[in-house]
Amino acid sequence: MSKKIASARISQKSSKLLQQLNNSLPFDKRLYHEDIAGSRVHALMLCEQGIISKEDYSKINAGLLEILEEIESGLFLLDGDDEDIHMAVEGRLTTKIGDAGKRLHTARSRNDQVALDFRLYVQKNNREIATLLLENIQTLIVIAKKHATTLLPGMTHLQHAQPINFGYHIMAYVSMFKRDYQRFISAYERNNYSPIGCAALAGTPHPIDRQATAKALEFNAPTLNCLDTVSDRDFALEILFNIATVMMHVSRLSEELILWSTSEFRWITLSDRHATGSSIMPQKKNPDIPELLRGKTGRVNGNLIGLLTVMKGLPLAYNKDMQEDKEGVFDSVETALLTLKVLNEMVSEMQVNTKRMEDACMVGHLLATDLADYLVRKVGLPFRDAYYITGNVVNLAESRGVDISELDFEAFQSIDERIGEDVIALLDNRVSMNMRTSEGGTATIRTIEQIEVIEKWIEEVR
Ligand code: ARG
Repeated sequence: MSKKIASARISQKSSKLLQQLNNSLPFDKRLYHEDIAGSRVHALMLCEQGIISKEDYSKINAGLLEILEEIESGLFLLDGDDEDIHMAVEGRLTTKIGDAGKRLHTARSRNDQVALDFRLYVQKNNREIATLLLENIQTLIVIAKKHATTLLPGMTHLQHAQPINFGYHIMAYVSMFKRDYQRFISAYERNNYSPIGCAALAGTPHPIDRQATAKALEFNAPTLNCLDTVSDRDFALEILFNIATVMMHVSRLSEELILWSTSEFRWITLSDRHATGSSIMPQKKNPDIPELLRGKTGRVNGNLIGLLTVMKGLPLAYNKDMQEDKEGVFDSVETALLTLKVLNEMVSEMQVNTKRMEDACMVGHLLATDLADYLVRKVGLPFRDAYYITGNVVNLAESRGVDISELDFEAFQSIDERIGEDVIALLDNRVSMNMRTSEGGTATIRTIEQIEVIEKWIEEVR
């Protein structure tokens, strides 16, 4: 029985149950790329600082490259009883190259090693998710441009409120995704500091060069305090929160797509590529895809709360509890990547039923606020009085079973003689939408302006 590399004072072989609980290899094996990259940079630095010989470095570097090959070609399966990816790679290296392999762990601990590997993974995915967000924003902009004049009832409390244009509605989601993008980028920048060289918790007496390893791994600089670095999982919490927030936005958009594709609305039609049938009801076309995107919010929220709870109350520095940091992050990252790819495809292929949207504007007295605003502007009434007079007009329209925009001039006069004939031209959904020209408002010119702002921003960040 060969002695395990990280168990100098443990004399018995671990129980099978302990291994099952203790080993992270089954899930952290996906960090093999980061682990090998970190080890190569560390070994090179050890060599350049004269801590290991050139010969040993060459063997280590070649061995690590071979191991990478072996993993990628499926030759080295990472399914043994090694505790984690770090031990698996180091063990393999020593088997391959002998004593030189045993020098790799000089001036390093698994505590800074795992902090490095995990941070590299998170940083890569901060960028990946940000890129996918930009793609979604671009897709949504195409729709917003096409529909900056398409009317639909803007809602509050899911009740018809005021006419807006569909491009404007879409631009609301673009604004959310823009902030999401910025959150991933700012997390990337805040966390772009290198943990390697912190060793177990206190640094090392070896003459290492953390600046060199940080630079080689494309970090801005080494982290400031080693005790903090091996204890810190903020960077993981940040990506979990940022993903939870994106997924919350995606969930709200999904909910609207689900609602809009019901028989009651039919404002949009999802492509058959993004809908599913029922096993019993032959007529059904179900919006399973947006439902799943909405539903996946649950697991990403769970992953965030999970890691916050793991970290709460841990003493400095590394504690094995922290091995519980990875699975939730892997799950949230994979969920976000898939979600954003699917969302982009689904939204770009959905059909917008312009006429259904515009017809819906004839229900619900969307122009009531316009009438009240008219009474303020033209007649000089205090808003609250105008509000009550408008309420009476709405009641009259309701009693006749029509929308206020369908009332004739006499009807308005019967409620209040101060209402002039010009109100008839004013009470038009498109006129109303285009009158909301205040900054950030729905008027088509303002919507186009918003689109232009975002397009300019995309040029800057791309
Ligand atoms: N597998 C461990 C983890 O994922 C690596 C760090 C182990 N360090 C230690 N001192 N036991 O957290």
